[in-house]
Amino acid sequence: MSEQKQLFKVTIDNITVEVEPGTTILNAARKIGGEVAPPAMCYYSKLKDSGGKCRTCLVEVAQGSAADPRPMPKLVASCRTTVMDGMVVKNITSDRVIDARKGVVEFLLINHPLDCPVCDQAGECHLQDLSYEHGAGASRYEFKRRTFEKHNLGPYIQLHMTRCILCYRCVYTADQVSGERRHGILSRGDHAEIATYIEKSLDNDFIGNVIDVCPVGALTDKTFRFKNRVWFTKPVDAHCSCDKCSGNVQLWMRGDEVLRVTARKDEWGEVKEWICNTCRFERKKVSDWVIEGPSKIDRHSVISQGHYVGVQKPHETVAKVTGRKPKLLMNIKNVSEVNQVDLSELKGPATSDVFKQIKKEN
Ligand code: SF4
Ligand code: FES
Repeated sequence: MSEQKQLFKVTIDNITVEVEPGTTILNAARKIGGEVAPPAMCYYSKLKDSGGKCRTCLVEVAQGSAADPRPMPKLVASCRTTVMDGMVVKNITSDRVIDARKGVVEFLLINHPLDCPVCDQAGECHLQDLSYEHGAGASRYEFKRRTFEKHNLGPYIQLHMTRCILCYRCVYTADQVSGERRHGILSRGDHAEIATYIEKSLDNDFIGNVIDVCPVGALTDKTFRFKNRVWFTKPVDAHCSCDKCSGNVQLWMRGDEVLRVTARKDEWGEVKEWICNTCRFERKKVSDWVIEGPSKIDRHSVISQGHYVGVQKPHETVAKVTGRKPKLLMNIKNVSEVNQVDLSELKGPATSDVFKQIKKEN
């Protein structure tokens, strides 16, 4: 008979969950889901050794373990701290954590340009979401922001070093996914930058994945650049038989035009399966793909706007934990207040012609 695995009980924001020893607080919180899971700008479950760089995942450990119930004196990085049996953790229920996270966002934004209106990452940028949730209304920073020499990364990838938050994800991706890391973070402190040899790893078939892991708009897809805002495009799951990767992708379409190809992501915004450069940059015709159907958008995301079919309600934990309603990035309504139409029945974007037609029919 197989031996039963011993599990640790950990309570996060008053919700108890059982996890295997060695699990980090962040992954235990992800098991609960929703807002109880701390935001993560550098940790990436598919990349070994990631995490511990950005401090956005800080939490308060109110009780170290059942055996030693003393609290931890300082906030800890939940992506790097493993749970103990009987541990009690506070995330959104801790004022210290909320305050610290606000400080972290302020630091991240010190050198990050506020160019969301022209940045291709807008609408799917984790820093944009984080600033909305935790940022202050204005910056107190009065000094000159960092500037960098421009690096040309070839025909496919655009680097905007000023937007980089030095999370190291692209470095780990090049190292572990493409197996050919020739770039890294050079210098330290204010001079640190993603640099030098990234140009040299661009001929690798899997280097395009650095675009998907970048939490901000520092690495973007040149073939999609300035073509459209993501919330005007329609994400569709599709596949092809590819001899280099799984061929399972997400197409970002406008009408019949494939504007962009990316890997599919999970509810934490992480890539499910790495895709190759050929699928990402060269298969831009609908005929290259077998379309599976509209992607399920399950985040409170601006990308959900206009796509009423297949939108999944995110798993909410805020109300249960804090008793207050969650702060949504946008309020997705079911019934149009102006036209009194059930939006879930619309098959496509809600244009005035569609409403006129429905009115005529009624
Ligand atoms: S370029 Fe993007 S992925 Fe790479 S370290 Fe900077 S923010 Fe992270
Ligand atoms: S996600 Fe934990 S430190 Fe960045």
